[in-house]
Order: sequence, then C-alpha cells, then structure tokens
Amino acid sequence: GAMAEERPLTIVTCTAPVNIAVIKYWGKRDNDLILPINSSLSVTLHQDQLKTTTTAAASRDFTKDRLWLNGEEVDVGQPRLQACLQEVRRLARKRRVGSSEDVAPLNLSYKVHIATENNFPTAAGLASSAAGYACLVSVLARLYGVEGELSEVARRGSGSACRSMLGGFVEWRRGERPDGKDSLAQQVAPETHWPELRVLVLVVSGEKKQVASTAGMQTSVDTSPLLKHRAEVVVPERLKLMMQHIREKDFEGFGQLTMKDSNQFHATCLDTFPPIFYLNDLSRHIIALAHRFNAHYGSTKVAYTFDAGPNAVIFMLADTVAEFVEVVRRSFPPATNGDQFVRGLPVGSAVLPEELLAAVVMEPVPGAVRYILHTKPGPGPQFVDDPSQHLLGADGLP
Ligand code: DP6
Repeated sequence: GAMAEERPLTIVTCTAPVNIAVIKYWGKRDNDLILPINSSLSVTLHQDQLKTTTTAAASRDFTKDRLWLNGEEVDVGQPRLQACLQEVRRLARKRRVGSSEDVAPLNLSYKVHIATENNFPTAAGLASSAAGYACLVSVLARLYGVEGELSEVARRGSGSACRSMLGGFVEWRRGERPDGKDSLAQQVAPETHWPELRVLVLVVSGEKKQVASTAGMQTSVDTSPLLKHRAEVVVPERLKLMMQHIREKDFEGFGQLTMKDSNQFHATCLDTFPPIFYLNDLSRHIIALAHRFNAHYGSTKVAYTFDAGPNAVIFMLADTVAEFVEVVRRSFPPATNGDQFVRGLPVGSAVLPEELLAAVVMEPVPGAVRYILHTKPGPGPQFVDDPSQHLLGADGLP
C-alpha cells in the first residue's frame, strides 16, 4: 500500500504541583483578570506525592481545540481555560514579531489536543485547580516556545495557580496596576531551604459539596467588614513576619502564624453574609488535638491550616512526624485495614508515652480520617522528556 503521509505532531508533557497557602488569598478586586485584594504566601508541595500531569499536542490535522480530564473529554469553552490558551498564543505571536532569529515556530493556527490527569484521587478533594492550571500553562508555553513570566498567565486560570508555577516558598504579590501586569508569583525561598519541614495531609471521610472558592470569596468581598480589615491591615503585617519566619526557619513563628491566618480566613467566612462554613466538627476536633499536642510540649510542634474544604494540612518538623502520626491513628482509628492509612513519604514507628496519650488523645472518632499523606516542600513545574509518559498517543488522542 501507499506510505502514509508524514504528519508531524508536536507534543509536550509537563507536571505541576499543588500548593498550600500559609497566608491565605481570599477575595478579588478584579474578577476577570483574577486580581486579589491581598498578597498571599504558600508552600509548594512535592510532586512525588501530589501532582498533575498534562500533555499538549499540536498538529495541522486537528480540527478544533480539545481537552480530556482524567480520560473524559470536557468542554474547552470555559472562560478561564480560554483566557490561558489565548494568553499563551498572544505571547507566542508577540515573541515571534520581536525575535530576529529563526525559531522554527509552531504554526499558530494549529489546534491543540490536551490531556490532563492527577496522581491522587480526584474524589479526595485535593484536586486543586492550582496544579491543573499551572500545568496547563507550563505545557502550552513549552509547546509554543514561550518563555519568561508565566505566573501572570496561570493566574488567569485560578488565582492560587500562579503560586504553583514556582517551587518552595512562594509569594503572590497583589500588585497595584489595574491591568494585573504586576500581580505575579515570586519565590521567597527554594524547596531546599528548610529540609526538615514536613507536611501531613489528613484526608477526611464524608466529603460534602462545598461552596466553591470563586463564589464564596465574591460574597465575602461584598459583605464582610472583617475581610476588608484583613486585606488592608492584617495581611501586610503578617506577610512581612511570615517571610522572616521562613528565612530564619523559625517553626514556632511560622506555625503560630500559619494557624492564626487559617483561623482568620475561616473567621471571614463566618463574617460573610450569609455565612460560609468550611470548618466542621472534625476540623475543630483536629484543631483541638493540635493545640493539646503543642500544649503538652509547651511549644509549637504542629501547625494546621484549612482551605475551602474539610481536609487538614499539618506542618511539622521531621522529628515530630512519627509521633504525631501515631496520635492521629489513636484519635481516628482507621475503619478498615484494606486501605493504606499512611501514604507518601515513609513514617517511622513511635510508641506514645502514657502522659502524652492521656493529655492529647481524648475520645477517639473511628474512621473520621480516611488516610494521611506524608509529603514535604517540592519544586515547581517539570518537563517530562520520556515519550512513554505522554498522555496522548501518536494519533493525538488519549
Ligand atoms: C482558600 O485560587 O481556588 O485556597 O482564583 O477564584 O480560582 P479562584 O480561587 P482559588 O482560591 C483559593 C482560596 C484558598 C486560599 C489560598 O489558596 O490562598
């Protein structure tokens, strides 16, 4: 038979991390450009435990842009997805006009196929759109040969996504300009800066549908006087302090401020009218447990933070992990032995002293915590060179 005509497919794969804010972003001053009312600061989590992988391919054979999420085709018409696609294409066009050398550019009229998936169960409520949009923007930028400042583009997908464009400790500066050109993510310290820092994600059972962040924060901006005070007065002071604690690797200061800022974020939710509740009885149980643990030691050993969902994220130093995991296991005895209760980085075994048990573990709530994920700070988006890792085949389909 006749030889098939050569149809070159340009294909790129990237991975991107989840991040957890220690100074929270809550509230926009511009909904379309996604400009926040306050700066925020986060820790990028390691992709060995939590990551999104995205493949993008371009070909003159594709008739339209298409997107598959965990194997299911989804609508590419969503405004935030379109904003990211259009921004990367605009930057690609701009770059070509400005560049003198011949860069063998990808034809800008080619349509793209995109496939994306997470290495963690979407149902666990960890499916942060942050990793998703950071990954999408990284992969598209590579495909189109765009370099330089990309956090501005990721921000258009989801505010918190701009912080997933960098590893380690990341500040999202609110910026002053109405066009958002100065509303960017900036690395405060790399992931290697604080090697002892560890993170436990307590994935809780009984997931219910929450008020989405985007809608929730809009109502908060419209109705909460506390949020206004927080953005204008509290956060600017806290950001300076938090950066100092990170620079000095001061866990006492870092942990205290992390807990206070999570609590204030949830206070602004209660101050929203009608109020929004992201914390539940189990969250309050975990909060009390952390405070009893710290009180027992007379110092800040563990620090919790909660976003717009019920999972708890707990920071600690490596030497506390084994003991605190045992405290969690005693407080929330796993329902079944089928599932692995502790996942991620290895956790040593610990025997709890009687006084600690008596002072910290109160009435156990069996099965309330589904599993614990042990992780640490990690790097920003990564390119995947191994072609076997692509999520799209040579035909451009998943
Ligand atoms: C509570 O980034 O999800 O996690 O910008 O509307 O997409 P949009 O919201 P999103 O909000 C995150 C809110 C938060 C705090 C944080 O991550 O800083």
